Amino acid sequence: MKCKKCKTKAVIGLPRHNAAFCKPCFNEFVHDQVARAVKSERMFGPKDRILVAVSGGKDSLALWDILLKLGYRADGLYVDLGIAGYSARSREKVERFAETTGKRHQATLLIHTVQEEEGAGIRELADLVNRPTCSACGTIKRYQFNRAAVDHDYDVMATGHNLDDEAARLLGNVLHWQEEYLEKQGPSLPASVEGFAKKVKPLYRLAERELAAYAVLNRIDYIVEECPMAKGSKMLLYKDVLNRLEIESPGTKQSFYWGFLDKQAKAQPAPVSMAEKDQATLHPCSLCHQPTTAEICSYCRMMARAKAGSLR
Ligand code: AMP
Ligand code: FES
Ligand code: ZN
Repeated sequence: MKCKKCKTKAVIGLPRHNAAFCKPCFNEFVHDQVARAVKSERMFGPKDRILVAVSGGKDSLALWDILLKLGYRADGLYVDLGIAGYSARSREKVERFAETTGKRHQATLLIHTVQEEEGAGIRELADLVNRPTCSACGTIKRYQFNRAAVDHDYDVMATGHNLDDEAARLLGNVLHWQEEYLEKQGPSLPASVEGFAKKVKPLYRLAERELAAYAVLNRIDYIVEECPMAKGSKMLLYKDVLNRLEIESPGTKQSFYWGFLDKQAKAQPAPVSMAEKDQATLHPCSLCHQPTTAEICSYCRMMARAKAGSLR
């Protein structure tokens, strides 16, 4: 197998692009895909301050690495969810990356610890409010990401969602005709109202397998194990189905998700844009002042229920 660009020995084959690359040309390919995503979706510019949510997994650490190497001003945010063992191991990976690559690029790492802020870890909080851990976790992460970006004046918040994540999410939304979610599924969501950070997903053009290869080839030490709460989740099932289709017919994931984005872009502009809709329905939460459609946001409601539960 020879590199498509320079004809030396290839280290990775990419069936969906009908190509293979050596290490330097593969790195160039990966950086180029991110640069294209940033440009085509108008995610951020060279002067913007970016906050990258880093979980310790391959995708988000690779994203931080790529943005720094492309010359962007990108700091990291780790949310310690207090999941026994798993959180400590993933935090260690993030801290080590920040100490080495981060420091070399003058980037800093913010850490938010749920246990310190709320007096309990995510598992206990989810039990107290009677919700599946992953769903309570989603609410907490969304809140933490947005609050950190807004409080520290970042221009944009970036996550490591990749092509596999987005295609699986699209499949789930289509299977259940979640039209409201479909409308909001995209790689770049504007800061529609004050208090809402702009959110971007610069890895949406890269597959999970490609990011794993990037991390290994560039010696990024990441946590390989999945969150113990994710076992048996619907997302993993959808990813598995899409991977099977991808083997039979390379390029399926990309044409499914990118095709959706194309159609979304070509669709007639909605009579009321998403930003206008948000402006009409969102106002500050009466407890934490973050934007919400209700009197009290879902995060504060959850924490109030958890506190009531712990007093019982
Ligand atoms: P997940 O929801 O676990 O698939 O993660 C999607 C993205 O959310 C990751 O690529 C990260 O950017 C971000 N993320 C997940 N967990 C954390 C965490 N504990 N701290 C910071 N960022 C996270
Ligand atoms: Fe949230 Fe696993 S990362 S429950
Ligand atoms: Zn609130």
